[in-house]
Amino acid sequence: MEFKTIIEPFRIHSVASIAMTTESERSEFIEEVGYNLFSLHSDNVLIDLLTDSGTGAMSRNQWAAIQRGDESYAGSPSWLNFKAAVQNLFPFTHIIPTHQGRAAEKILFTAIGGAGKVIPSNTHFDTTRANIEYSQAEAVDLVIAEGKDPANLHPFKGNMDLVALEQLIKNTGVENIPVVMMTITNNSGGGQPVSLENLHAVSAICKKYSIPFFLDACRFAENAWFIREREAGQSRREVIDIVREIARLADGMTMSAKKDPLGNIGGWLALNDDGLAAICRNLLILTEGFPTYGGLAGRDLEALAVGLTEVVSHDYLRYRIQSTAYLGNALHEMGIPVVLPIGGHAVYIDAKALLPHIPALQYPGQGLAIELYKAGGIRGCEIGSVMFGRKPDGSEVPAAMELVRLAIPRRTYTQSHIDYVIEVCAEVLKRAPSLTGYSIIKEPPSLRHFTSEFAPI
Ligand code: F0G
Repeated sequence: MEFKTIIEPFRIHSVASIAMTTESERSEFIEEVGYNLFSLHSDNVLIDLLTDSGTGAMSRNQWAAIQRGDESYAGSPSWLNFKAAVQNLFPFTHIIPTHQGRAAEKILFTAIGGAGKVIPSNTHFDTTRANIEYSQAEAVDLVIAEGKDPANLHPFKGNMDLVALEQLIKNTGVENIPVVMMTITNNSGGGQPVSLENLHAVSAICKKYSIPFFLDACRFAENAWFIREREAGQSRREVIDIVREIARLADGMTMSAKKDPLGNIGGWLALNDDGLAAICRNLLILTEGFPTYGGLAGRDLEALAVGLTEVVSHDYLRYRIQSTAYLGNALHEMGIPVVLPIGGHAVYIDAKALLPHIPALQYPGQGLAIELYKAGGIRGCEIGSVMFGRKPDGSEVPAAMELVRLAIPRRTYTQSHIDYVIEVCAEVLKRAPSLTGYSIIKEPPSLRHFTSEFAPI
């Protein structure tokens, strides 16, 4: 007998209290911070879906491992445990620990980026793009067309457009493409997975032109689970074998250990090329630390070593992917437009479709995110014209999509928390026709979504 309720495959071991607030209190809190959800005191948030990055709960085995942390400056056993756990999944020759994903990106693109270089990906995450552009190189997104259509039901909407990739290589010249990246799952494209077939094809193109192939593998286990669920011939495989197969296709990876490695902090850069590894290790020493700890404490390395063994558990991944879909499907069924199919780590609400009466440059995503907070204390994140609308030349152009991301921290909220989120969304759906847009009244020179202040129109 298979039961329909998805139970959390864990018991709660330690708790953090949530302070209850009323709608009128929350209306004051959000007004006080200029209607910017990043500026809220997190104690005033009931359900925090701002990000799945570093916000998950660790297991008791991870907490126990923290006690084993060895803080030797060089060659600590914690480093060796971490390295073995990474190489068990991703058998690259060189593992370079960093304090988080963007530090690995900064080191890699300082070493191989630069003016005139072009770096394709299915879709670069913001920090990846920013680090590439900071090196004066160009970041190009080549996700398949289905990946840009929120309603399209393609099972692997994170796939790379292979024709476009080969065309780019021919037009740009092999010598100007230092690496091809692939983000699994494709966070900026809705947390959508990449198929094993597509990964094989991209790897083959890279081999044909002798271009290194790197993964941005933050959500590798979620991606592997989708492969097992959706790709022909994969349903009987162990996730760990799928992950190893993906790793063997690549020449290296950047990683944020704040996602699937189930840590609160951490990251790494891994690669096979000895010469490039030597350059990267020297850069690491400049800003992150000695190569056997990167920017991390020994105890962090221990927690990640354990997290890497837990995240490939089928019980965990089945619960993780089904519970994200549980939220997404409930919103879809009540008529809230969401990016389909539901991704691995988050549900993305299409604010443009939900609030067609609010023009893009009155920020429908911001309006929706504020209302979710006021109505129920839920903090999501606008991914639309507030985040992407201001161009380097000072002009303002609407973003391609106006989304609000509800990212689910790992192993943190129960089904009743999510049932509450669903109820709040139903209330906000009722209010949708009367919601108004916002104007920006204070804006920093860049990355405006973090610190801008808003006023209701
Ligand atoms: N790559 C991807 C695909 C990411 O989603 C992130 C972070 C990074 C790289 C950078 O890693 O934060 O450890 O420096 N994403 C977070 C998010 C911030 O909310 O989606 P980091």
